[in-house]
Parts: sequence; structure tokens; C-alpha cells
Amino acid sequence: MKSKAILLPAYQGNIIRALRSLEMKEIEIKPPAQDEVLLEITAAVCNPSDLAFIQGGYNVRKPLPAIPGFEGAGVVIEAGKSTDAQALTGKRVSFFSQSKDGGTWSHHITVKADDCIEIRDEISDEQAACLSVNPFTAYAMIEQVKQDGSKAIIQNAAAGQIGYFIRTLAAINNIEVINIVRKEEQEEALKAEGNKYVLCNKSENFTEELAILSHELCATSAFDASGGELSGHILKAMPKYATLYLYGALAGRTLSEIPALDIIFMNKIIRGFNVNEWKDEIGKAEFKMVSEHIQDLIANGTIKTRIQGKFQMKDVGAALMQYIRNMSGGKVLLMPDKL
Ligand SMILES: NC(=O)c1ccc[n+]([C@@H]2O[C@H](COP(=O)([O-])OP(=O)(O)OC[C@H]3O[C@@H](n4cnc5c(N)ncnc54)[C@H](OP(=O)(O)O)[C@@H]3O)[C@@H](O)[C@H]2O)c1
Repeated sequence: MKSKAILLPAYQGNIIRALRSLEMKEIEIKPPAQDEVLLEITAAVCNPSDLAFIQGGYNVRKPLPAIPGFEGAGVVIEAGKSTDAQALTGKRVSFFSQSKDGGTWSHHITVKADDCIEIRDEISDEQAACLSVNPFTAYAMIEQVKQDGSKAIIQNAAAGQIGYFIRTLAAINNIEVINIVRKEEQEEALKAEGNKYVLCNKSENFTEELAILSHELCATSAFDASGGELSGHILKAMPKYATLYLYGALAGRTLSEIPALDIIFMNKIIRGFNVNEWKDEIGKAEFKMVSEHIQDLIANGTIKTRIQGKFQMKDVGAALMQYIRNMSGGKVLLMPDKL
């Protein structure tokens, strides 16, 4: 069938040029195979991974021209023959797909039934569009902290959406959080929300203050969305036997300032974290249970993705510019054009 989607003609390191090159075009959508469903998209989100993708700096590359977007919400309008696909007929779903021949910045998409989560009526399309990745990531990371037995954690990019989910889930589990932000106004905003430990990594005594706090609170786990020299500064500030989980590369630079002697003599560790691998590891049955739990948290208002703007899909350039200027302000959503 024919549909419309945003197309990226070429990967471009310069984000402004990449944004300018995005265009809404007519596309052909393939019918669903046995284990797939065809969705009419109701909302799609822009995440940091989408920005990295259009710049050619992500671990997923699609053949060009490519449809960007990995996460969104939709309604199943046609299902393949498998039992799992058939069970989704007519359902509202949240989904995450890194398939090479589609993307969520589109009016329609064909995806694996396994990449879809059926959504309850009380969850809006907007929240559903941001449900498949970040809440699960934060949930899995807090489970890791519980397994590690850490009483306190350190996290950077703390003014972003995962930062907020981690704080909320940590509080439920009586885990203290040392929040690192990169702007003074973010430090003030998080303190005003009642967060006790907030540091700005641009302030003069940042590393000293972080070291004092992380030893005082015994923060033996850290979640690092940045990379670059901040990773090394955080690891250095942490106590013995600390683990830094690297889960994002927002700084766009290789890790540096890693304290070699701390790794050798203080048993400090750097590990990667990737939510897709976690999903594969826990298996379908447990994933379904976690998914129900996350929908409970959203439905009862415990967690909510902050949304700073909704744009028609054809206005993708303006949407992404707004997001890039203030990522901490919340997600921007692309809505199918109603023309
Ligand atoms: N590994 C996984 O499985 C997994 C899963 C989901 C997400 N992620 C990653 O998690 C990270 C956070 O995602 P999100 O959805 O929470 O993002 P978000 O809500 O869009 O917010 C991004 C946050 O990062 C800050 N930031 C941007 N560039 C930065 C830099 N160079 N150094 C430090 N902070 C920076 C932003 O601050 P400003 O407002 O100042 O720009 C903002 O507070 C991303 O890297 C994403 O790719 C990883």
C-alpha cells in the first residue's frame, strides 16, 4: 500500500544539514509477513538515538533513503498469520523497531509482533509513543542496582527523561541518587523539585564534591549517558568496587580520563548497558510482566514522559530544532499529518 514518511537522503555529521535534508515523501509499505503487523502510526517520538542515527553515528544504519525513528505508537490495521500477530488485530500498541526497511517517522509501518506492546485504554497515544524504551531502560538499570546491592547511585544527563525515571524508581526502592546535570539552571530546577543531591559538572569544584558525596553515600553504581572525559571523572570519584554502566554517548567522544590505577587496585569496572540485550536476556514472559508493571506506573501517574511539543510530521525540522535546543524540556512528538 502507499503511505507517507519522512525520508533521510544521506547520513550527515552536521545535524543542521541533516535536518534540512529531511523530506516527507510517498512510500510503499510492504504487507505484514507471518509474524508481523501493519500499523497506522498515531505518534512517534524523537530520541537522542534518532539524532545520532541521522548523523550516521549510531550502531544502526539503514539503506538510503531511510525512514528515521525507532519508537512510536500505532493501531494494528492488518496482522500476519502467526498467533502473536493475530492477537494484536485492532489493538493500540507501543513499539520499538530497528528494522532496516521502515521507521516510525511515517504514517504506516510494518513491524514484528514481538516488537509491539499492547497498550491499555487509559494510556494516551502520546505516552504510548515514549513507553517502549526509556521506562524499561530505567527499570532494568534499577534492577541491576538492586542486584549489585548499591545503596546509592550516580547518574548524569539527570535532567533528561531517563534521569527522571531513574530518580522516581530509585526513590521507590530507597536508593539515593546523586544527579549530575550540565547547566546551572538544570541544577536549580532539580533542587527546586526537592532532589537532595544535584551537581553541575561545569561548576568549579565538581569532581571534589562528587568524590565527597559518593564516598559518604557509598555510591557504588553509576549510570553514564555521556561518555567523554565525564566518564573518567565519575569513575575516579567513586569508592572501591564501583561499577560505571555506560548506556549513552551524548558527548559524542571516546571515554577519557579513566583512572587506570583505580581499575587495577580498587576493582573499579566499566560496563555497557543496552535495553535490547536486557529484553532478550529476560525472555518474553518476564518482559510481559515488566510491561504490565510499567503500564501500572504510567496509568497511576507514578511516571510520565514529559512532552514539550507535538508537531505535524511534515514539520520534522522545526520539531527537532526545538528538541535539540532544550532536550531537558521533554520529548517532541511527530504526529501524522491531518491534511
Ligand atoms: N543503552 C540503552 O539501552 C538506552 C536506552 C534508552 C536511552 N539511552 C540513552 O540514554 C540517554 C538519555 O536519553 P533520554 O531519552 O533520557 O534523553 P532526553 O530526555 O532527550 O534528555 C537528554 C538529556 O541529556 C542531556 N545532554 C545532552 N547532551 C549532553 C552531553 N553532551 N553531556 C551531558 N548531558 C547531555 C540533555 O541536557 P540539555 O537539555 O542541556 O541538552 C538532557 O538533559 C541517551 O544517550 C539515549 O541514547 C540508552
